[in-house]
Amino acid sequence: MKLAMIGTGYVGLVSGVCFADFGFHVTCVDKNPSIIDRLKAGKATIYEPGLDELMARNIRDGRLEFTTDLAASVADADVIFIAVGTPSRRGDGEADLQYIEAAADEIAAAMKPGAVVVIKSTVVVGTNARIRDRIAAARPGVPFSMVSNPEFLREGSAIEDFLRPDRVVVGVEDERGKAAMQRVYRPLYLRETPLVITTLENAELIKYAANAFLAMKVTFINEVADLCEKTGGNVQEVARAIGMDKRIGSKFLHAGPGFGGSCFPKDTRAFAATGKRYGARQTLIEQVIEVNEARKQAMAERIVSAARESSTDTVAILGIAFKPNTDDIRESPALDIVPAVQKAGLTVRAHDPEAMEAAKAALPGVVWCNSAYEAATGAGVVALLTEWNAYRALDLKRLASLMNGNVLIDLRNVYKGEDLEGTGLDYRGVGRSLK
Ligand code: UDX
Repeated sequence: MKLAMIGTGYVGLVSGVCFADFGFHVTCVDKNPSIIDRLKAGKATIYEPGLDELMARNIRDGRLEFTTDLAASVADADVIFIAVGTPSRRGDGEADLQYIEAAADEIAAAMKPGAVVVIKSTVVVGTNARIRDRIAAARPGVPFSMVSNPEFLREGSAIEDFLRPDRVVVGVEDERGKAAMQRVYRPLYLRETPLVITTLENAELIKYAANAFLAMKVTFINEVADLCEKTGGNVQEVARAIGMDKRIGSKFLHAGPGFGGSCFPKDTRAFAATGKRYGARQTLIEQVIEVNEARKQAMAERIVSAARESSTDTVAILGIAFKPNTDDIRESPALDIVPAVQKAGLTVRAHDPEAMEAAKAALPGVVWCNSAYEAATGAGVVALLTEWNAYRALDLKRLASLMNGNVLIDLRNVYKGEDLEGTGLDYRGVGRSLK
């Protein structure tokens, strides 16, 4: 069985490499020749733990290829996955489907009869049916099957998530599409991963509802953290105990600077926009978006007022990526927080283990540093924004000795009381006080 994967972003590259590892022949396609050259040389274009090794093995064994030639890769493919981006459209927050439509047109022109076309990109309800009609109109009389197969992998643990998902969701319309999906996911099936077989529309709705719910969970605990701060509570203890209720569940209850990334912000906006369009407002999610935006500004204000109290003009920011183990800065809280801090007249010194290259263009005026310690040097306030492992065991005495001030704002609640002993740091976590 031959697979073609259109788009080599997070979802496309990780899925393509993992399907090759399942034993299928996979051709990954991207329009950008420099991306393809890099991938051909066995170098992943994204930072994802374990990906380089998996790529190398499958390239060596001849199961994984890369090309810019979409038509050639699609011509003999049995299953064609579309994994191109669906960014937010400016203005109305709707998902921009131009890349999906362009890919569908090229696939329609080149696919063989009986091909199975699978949309893996996150697309709003109704898109799969529209794309099906578009392909059918371009190739009248040529049989093919449409499948919706949303992907739930997280950056930073993408391979693990692909190989051990809680469930695989596939929306199908016919037996051919269903059989193809059962075959490509057979290795997971054998590990008893549930394969949820449903309609195209349900599959689309499941993906958005899942991400919207998770974003809501994060936003909920962030507001609880605010209340904990005002009342002497501890959000970690509250989260732990409410999470023991299986109806609530323990995951996604870490308070922080607000959610970011390539999915939650754009997917919540698209979900809200879809609700408006159909006259079924998702008011809860509209509110989640608003609360999350306000939170990022509130975090910036926290840093600025700490700097004012300390009479410092320099702040160190540790972590720019929206979460650890990725170099992705898309909609990272840091992209709102850093400019707001600069706007208050403060100098920002920053470090991130993987995201500095990406961040340089996005955050002008920042003094980029080679380590957390270098960033902290001369700063009156240090703010930890991303919970990289490298920031979990900092030598806080050393950090404090390099600073010109003593406030540590830990927006990820990485440190505990005993870590602070003897450091002289004025520690400020989220939703808890260590005093
Ligand atoms: C998310 C979904 O988890 C995944 O299923 C979907 O396919 C894509 O979107 P990802 O964006 O990679 O994955 O990151 P995730 O780990 O879910 O974190 C999203 C954001 O929420 C990050 O900014 C993270 O810092 C924040 N977050 C998450 C919290 O602040 N607290 C939490 O408890 C969990």
